Amino acid sequence: MIDHLPTGSDAMKISLTIALLVFTVPLFGQQSLQLQSPDKDLTLTVELDAEGTLSYALDFKGRSVVQPSALGFEFNRPEAAVSTFQLLDSEVTTSNTTWKPVWGEVAEIQDHHNELFLELTDTGGSDIRIDLRFRVFDDGIGFRFEFPEQESMHHFIIGNEFTEFNMAGDHKTFWIPGDYDTNEYLYETTPISGINSMEVAQAESDIAVQAIIEGNAVQTPLMMKSNDGLYINIHEAALVNYPVMHLDVDSRSFKFTSNLTPDPVGNKAYLETPSVTPWRTILVSDDARDILSSKMILNLNEPSKIDDTEWIEPQKFIGVWWEMHVGKGTWDFASGNHAANTENVKKYIDFASEHGFDGVLVEGWNEGWEDWFGNWKEDVFDFVTPYPDYDIEALTDYAEEKGVRIIMHHETSGSVTNYERRMDEAFQFMKDHNMNAVKTGYVGRIIPRGEHHDGQWMTRHFIRTAEKAAEYQIMVNSHESSRPTGVHRTWPNWFASEAARGNEFNNAPKYGMTPEHQTILPFTRLIGGPMDFTPGLFRFTLNDYVRERSTVVRTTMAKQLALYITMYSPLQMAGDLPENYAPYMEAFEFIERVPLDWDDTKILLAEPGEYIVIARKEKGTENWFVGGITDEIARDATIDFNFLTPGKTYNARLYLDGSNADWKTNPYSMIMQSTKITSETELPVRLAAGGGFAISIELED
Ligand code: NOJ
Ligand code: CA
Repeated sequence: MIDHLPTGSDAMKISLTIALLVFTVPLFGQQSLQLQSPDKDLTLTVELDAEGTLSYALDFKGRSVVQPSALGFEFNRPEAAVSTFQLLDSEVTTSNTTWKPVWGEVAEIQDHHNELFLELTDTGGSDIRIDLRFRVFDDGIGFRFEFPEQESMHHFIIGNEFTEFNMAGDHKTFWIPGDYDTNEYLYETTPISGINSMEVAQAESDIAVQAIIEGNAVQTPLMMKSNDGLYINIHEAALVNYPVMHLDVDSRSFKFTSNLTPDPVGNKAYLETPSVTPWRTILVSDDARDILSSKMILNLNEPSKIDDTEWIEPQKFIGVWWEMHVGKGTWDFASGNHAANTENVKKYIDFASEHGFDGVLVEGWNEGWEDWFGNWKEDVFDFVTPYPDYDIEALTDYAEEKGVRIIMHHETSGSVTNYERRMDEAFQFMKDHNMNAVKTGYVGRIIPRGEHHDGQWMTRHFIRTAEKAAEYQIMVNSHESSRPTGVHRTWPNWFASEAARGNEFNNAPKYGMTPEHQTILPFTRLIGGPMDFTPGLFRFTLNDYVRERSTVVRTTMAKQLALYITMYSPLQMAGDLPENYAPYMEAFEFIERVPLDWDDTKILLAEPGEYIVIARKEKGTENWFVGGITDEIARDATIDFNFLTPGKTYNARLYLDGSNADWKTNPYSMIMQSTKITSETELPVRLAAGGGFAISIELED
């Protein structure tokens, strides 16, 4: 087991009092507790006023981040509104440990935090006991509610959680509309006072299934920037048995309140004592780069539940996939242009083998695609029956011969009951055919009918899937799942999710994908975990195929390479068709070489909605890879290579936007050159509008 708490003094928990906690009981019975971060930049204040109303507030270097914000619950069973509390006891501890992720952006992660644990009881008549645990890190805070074992409450139902995030100003906010079924919206940037989620969500026509939240609501991770330069991110960690938290917006007082995804009868969560909620998280810094390098969400998740993780290996893959999206072939067999046929899949296997890829994803291999979409039908796929032109036995042998694996595709079309019934058989079928990775999909309305993608039932399904897949030593990449909350620490075989608008939306008929969106994703969606963004599209005019719509990929060529660095994932697809790579093999070399697992990561430059430049050190080597992207605005950047080992010489290969490159007018223009660099090199780089750059760096021997 790699994910572990080290032993010895490092892991020691020390009970502290005075140094960390200020505890006062002033006049009028008000109680106030304060706790600071290890570096003392953050101060958490928890208050219980004379009426018993509980609130918390957060300051960063003396500036208000979260103003007093109330906490409370409504229970549907036992029926009770809990909004006033009595403090029974409190404890402060500190912890400083390190642990090694199975895969990731860095080899080792430090978890240094101070903790405040409050034992509370309802004073409104129910006597329900609720505990509250705060952890204050240098880069933010997390807090969760805990329901201890108690005589008067065993099974219980959450009707509502009232967790407020009362912001100190009308911050610039990067948001997508609150929706219980999809997170595939394009990011909007407005002040909090300008958030109009319903209008934006109703105008959206690229998304298959929506459940727009009434009123005004947004999704997390929610990224903000204050007028005086504070970067603030609200999300949650360790969502394992609870619904997704969305946020209702009070645009006049700049306040967000938790809005939990309901089940078909309007309940939010069914729990049993003892149990806990996910952590509510707030990241803060005056440097945007700290938000991207934060490991707080991972630190708030449980260590790996998989003891032997040897079989979990990052994967690079291509797929019989984009050709269906652009209309060259189809998923279904009946319409006569079936892409997943034996001969075509062999071509992909050849390509993967030739270029050292691990896998070939094959979509549309199995019966059911004739009526998979939009019918809310329970039995569509059985996950084990190939179409007649897909010779699975021959392809299994062929792939094995060529040293690559076929990646399974389980599109459920939202019929999750059907998938769960067949899952053992489906995973066994994969093992029998030498497959160890699956892409799952949840396009459509969920069955059990009335459930949402973001509800507690589906949260549990995603965890069950990761657990069951682990039993079969299978790695999972989930599409249309709820957005991640760091659970990949606990289930490191759940590699990545889509759970946002990815590269495939370049083909969407209306709004598609913007360069700006891609500079926001690392500050929002990726805060919770890796994304299957599917970079590496090399052919930008998509109406070259049979499609009537004139969709284009909004990018430059160099930027498609940069995305392998700026969108971290242990699983990366080269999204395009082999024939589209053929004319650009020199550029493709970067995709061939780019690693998926890292010993170190340096965020060099970052501003949400504008630009991101990241350097990463390949696991187990002295090689570095750098990627940078910009929004619709061309920018000049200087890359300081002071992260390299002093006194050593490195060979760098540069993939830069050409001098006239532009995502709209000249996207293919790219300069490739080799140069020698050292830790003292400062390299000026120009990023074209909608463009970027990539650099691979190898130690000279
Ligand atoms: C949506 C997924 O995001 C996409 O990648 C996949 O090809 C289709 N569903 C079909 O399952
Ligand atoms: Ca999708």
